[in-house]
Amino acid sequence: MDFDLTEEQRLVRDTARDFAAREIAPKASEIDKSGRWPAEIVSRMAELGFLGMAVPEEHGGAGLDTLSYALVMEEISAACASSGVIMSVNNSLFCDPLNKYGSPSLKNEILTPVAQGKKLGCFGLTEPMSGSDAQTMATSGEKVSGGWVLNGAKNWITNGPHADFILVFAITDRSGPRVKHTAFVVPKGTPGYTQANPDHKLGIHGAHSCTVFFENCKLPDSAVVGNVGEGFKVAMSTLDGGRIGIASQALGIARAALDVSVSYAKERKSFGVPIAQHQAIQFMLSDMATELDAARLLTWRAATMKDKGTKHTMQSSEAKLYASEAATRIAHKAIQIHGGYGYSTEFPVERHYRDARITEIYEGTSEIQRIVIAASLLKG
Ligand code: CAA
Repeated sequence: MDFDLTEEQRLVRDTARDFAAREIAPKASEIDKSGRWPAEIVSRMAELGFLGMAVPEEHGGAGLDTLSYALVMEEISAACASSGVIMSVNNSLFCDPLNKYGSPSLKNEILTPVAQGKKLGCFGLTEPMSGSDAQTMATSGEKVSGGWVLNGAKNWITNGPHADFILVFAITDRSGPRVKHTAFVVPKGTPGYTQANPDHKLGIHGAHSCTVFFENCKLPDSAVVGNVGEGFKVAMSTLDGGRIGIASQALGIARAALDVSVSYAKERKSFGVPIAQHQAIQFMLSDMATELDAARLLTWRAATMKDKGTKHTMQSSEAKLYASEAATRIAHKAIQIHGGYGYSTEFPVERHYRDARITEIYEGTSEIQRIVIAASLLKG
């Protein structure tokens, strides 16, 4: 595998790095502490083409590859993990499936403004009583003359409070031995589609999520994404790509925690020398750097496979599993290196620690990634 970045990939990464350093990093602590939605950062990400990175230009996107997307996700997330996941949901969980499965009219009318960042998308799979076991959802779609009627609730919907559209999954056929699901796109303002107040969470405070409700929500036939009855495959193949985005978010958080730890270790003195001279600190820094590099290699491999059109379900899960758990371990060590200051909200490492933790949960917990990896292994 050749991991030399192309000139275009380096340019895109450097643009994101510069933007993140100038316009996001100085605000990250304030966004975390206030819990505000970073509207101005979302607008700038739209201007830079970061909200529809892999969507073809004819549908409003930047027409770039998945590796470029992973590079930008790492840069944005290193500055602010909340901004990273806002970007990731719009790209991976909304634009990607619309681009792959959407009808020409859905691509023209909905994908195009979302990929341009003029509108925002979100993804509704999880429910109050079904997270990991996604198939057992309660939300139903009933066929009626000229369309469908949705009933149910979805929760932990990242971007939900601000999104103009939701891609939502519902059971539409219970007649056979296995239920069948269908994917629908629902615009905000559709009668019967409502949202609760934003959730209160441990981290990623700027990335708002909420529960959404569908109560006799009437949709036209044109709202169906992909084939009727094949929605679960739409959801699963979307997550194959989404997990690369979350792995990249974890890389960004981990890198930020490592970078600040290296700087601190060179400045802070104990026993008459900078703590970087103590082997105890050096060993921690070495483990952090090694885990970060390993996570990045797994993530870039999955991204490259997606770009080549190779099946990458297992590799995406490996990347997400390893990168997310590594990010938590790296942020944990970053706090240890900082000592008491690491536990203080005056330093960024406690934010990295809180932000890292969600990457082990959303878009499939670590346990689900292990199930996916084992299933691929055992299939042979
Ligand atoms: N691509 C395409 N199709 C797939 C697939 C994939 N990666 N994985 C499975 N399928 C298909 C299977 O082929 C199968 O089809 P057939 O019946 O025709 O053979 C069908 O889907 C069912 O597959 P399984 O029997 O493997 O399904 P399962 O019920 O055992 O569950 C699971 C599999 C992996 C556990 C799945 O439920 C899962 O991924 N759960 C986790 C859900 C998740 O990640 N949720 C995240 C929500 S989004 C989010 O978090 C967003 C956010 O906030 C940022």
